[in-house]
Amino acid sequence: MKEGDMVGITAKVSRFNPETDKEPHFETYTVSVHDGARVLHVLHAIHDRLDPTLAYRFCCEAGQCGSCAMRVNGEPVLACMEEATDGMTVEPLRLPVIRDLLVEVEGVLARLAPFEAGEEPEIPSKEEIEAIKPLRDCIECLSCVSECPAVDVASFLGPTGMRQEMRIALDPRAKHDRIKKAIDEGLFTCTTCQRCRDVCPKKIAIPGRAIEKLREIANREGLTLPRHQAVARLIEETGRSVDRTKATFLEQVPEVVEPDGPVRGEVGFFVGCMYNGRVPETALDMIEVMKRNGIRLIIPHDQVCCGSPLIRTGQTAILPELKKRNIEAFARKGVTTVMTMCAGCGSTLKNDYDTPFTVKDITEVLTEYGIEPPARLDVRATYHDPCHLLRGQGISGQPRELLKTAVREFVEMPSRCCGAGGGVRSGLPDEAAALGKQRDDEIKKTGADIVVTACPFCEFHIRENTDRPVKHICTLLLEGYREKDRKRNRPAKG
Ligand code: SF4
Ligand code: SF4
Ligand code: FES
Repeated sequence: MKEGDMVGITAKVSRFNPETDKEPHFETYTVSVHDGARVLHVLHAIHDRLDPTLAYRFCCEAGQCGSCAMRVNGEPVLACMEEATDGMTVEPLRLPVIRDLLVEVEGVLARLAPFEAGEEPEIPSKEEIEAIKPLRDCIECLSCVSECPAVDVASFLGPTGMRQEMRIALDPRAKHDRIKKAIDEGLFTCTTCQRCRDVCPKKIAIPGRAIEKLREIANREGLTLPRHQAVARLIEETGRSVDRTKATFLEQVPEVVEPDGPVRGEVGFFVGCMYNGRVPETALDMIEVMKRNGIRLIIPHDQVCCGSPLIRTGQTAILPELKKRNIEAFARKGVTTVMTMCAGCGSTLKNDYDTPFTVKDITEVLTEYGIEPPARLDVRATYHDPCHLLRGQGISGQPRELLKTAVREFVEMPSRCCGAGGGVRSGLPDEAAALGKQRDDEIKKTGADIVVTACPFCEFHIRENTDRPVKHICTLLLEGYREKDRKRNRPAKG
């Protein structure tokens, strides 16, 4: 096929007329367009040749104005930049729908903080200009707002509202300190799930560049939530972010755990506060899986909290000390790879540390070495993607690969934040519970018997919000191994 040849594209387009329809429905259209046509060209063809009542918004047709944002095959995109594919579905953003693909944007845009210069404005330094630049790239498409889980359940202006607040906070010419306003607009409701960064056509890293930085300013002004302050005090006093209620994981294991058979590999293990103090049973299951698969574990007992709860809530004063202690604890043991099984710790060690060793999630380690196949358990399982694994570390295939070896049937569910992260579970438990409830609704829709995940925060939080068993992938693998052993040892019939 030559460039410019005509191709037939069939598209399912969401239609909604508020005067006649109770709710949106899909209509299917087939049009002939040039090969390589964008979604917007297909909408133009439908509008011009088949149905002039189709309503959608566009202006620049060059990815610059943000007006054509919509969902194609479920993901927010700019229709003028996205290549059309045969069989695609086209829907409006998840915002109040005015008609067809037109959504209400004025309400949010009108509330974005205005820039007001002070009377004797200071000229920004080169560093300040560099810091402001990435926050200025917003084209106000509102894809981020439409996908933000916090906007759904809390009073939150949304990601781009926080981006604008930080853009102003960084500018020495601005007239007012607006941090109290940012808090009123929902600064602490963000779960740092990173969904806004992923869907942003300009790839603005709002959680890291705006939300966590605004929370640091709030901290300097004494405005951190009291429950977050309590977590910071606990870390400062004990090196851990969760209260000690029972024997910790580190108290139950030696510093070196040898495998049952020949050694196929060796990794350091960074346990994290949740697996150390709250759910050590899951980390003990992991030990059995590693022993069975020939991987030696080096577990320094002087490791401490990675600092993730402090970074996410803007309380970074003691962070350098925590980083130093952790890096030294593993460097002293001479390990070249450190393994995490908490998605939050893994994301923090990979993205917020500068380590002299490689950091890998347990699902990476197990798939790279390869594992003894477990017996398949007679269950239908679904998988919850931890935000800090999926978006924080880009890991989605490995846990699914492992999970599928251990169950009769696997069923997908949409990836969405469970509400446990960003200090929301500790600081705003009602919001966390509302998001947990949404997860339970999705779990029920899959008809799954069990939910599998790969993060202790998700494991603990989803367990509180669903009646289905929630297991870490290691627990599932261990159950598969036990079932295999049981079958092997079962006496033969007759
Ligand atoms: S990180 Fe998640 S919760 Fe926070 S603003 Fe972005 S989409 Fe919303
Ligand atoms: S931050 Fe990105 S996704 Fe959000 S409105 Fe701006 S350009 Fe769109
Ligand atoms: S029409 Fe302007 S970004 Fe698509």
